[in-house]
Amino acid sequence: MIIALGADHGGFELKEIIKKHLLDRNYEVKDYGTDSAQAVDYPEYGFQVGEAIIKQEADLGILVCGTGIGISIAANKVRGIRAAVCTNCYMAKMAREHNNANILALGARVIGEGLALEIVDAFLNTSFGGERHARRVDLISKYEDAISK
Ligand code: RB5
Repeated sequence: MIIALGADHGGFELKEIIKKHLLDRNYEVKDYGTDSAQAVDYPEYGFQVGEAIIKQEADLGILVCGTGIGISIAANKVRGIRAAVCTNCYMAKMAREHNNANILALGARVIGEGLALEIVDAFLNTSFGGERHARRVDLISKYEDAISK
């Protein structure tokens, strides 16, 4: 599985920790930056990772900023992206199983490194449940399609 990673300066350090965690587990990782703790603008990284998923450069994405909020709002502007901010493993599991989230967003200033890695594993190890959940996610896609015509 190919994972796209992105972060602003607030999430840079945690992104690097997540990258090592994924590489140690034999995931293929595509890192869309940022590459240092120097201040940058989070929307750029949300858009880049969102577009990478839509262009099928990666299967799923993980974004990190200070709270996970700004970067997920940006990613969710890319048509077809369902980015979910998760602060615990239950949310991560449900984001995949019920919402077919294709990006996990984390807040490096909200959760610690240990929990972040557990959330990453919960997200990546859960599949979409389909059935009634597919109907609901399809409603979101149809709405997106309708308003972008
Ligand atoms: C940057 O200071 C901070 O605003 C950003 O990382 C993020 O938390 C925005 O939602």
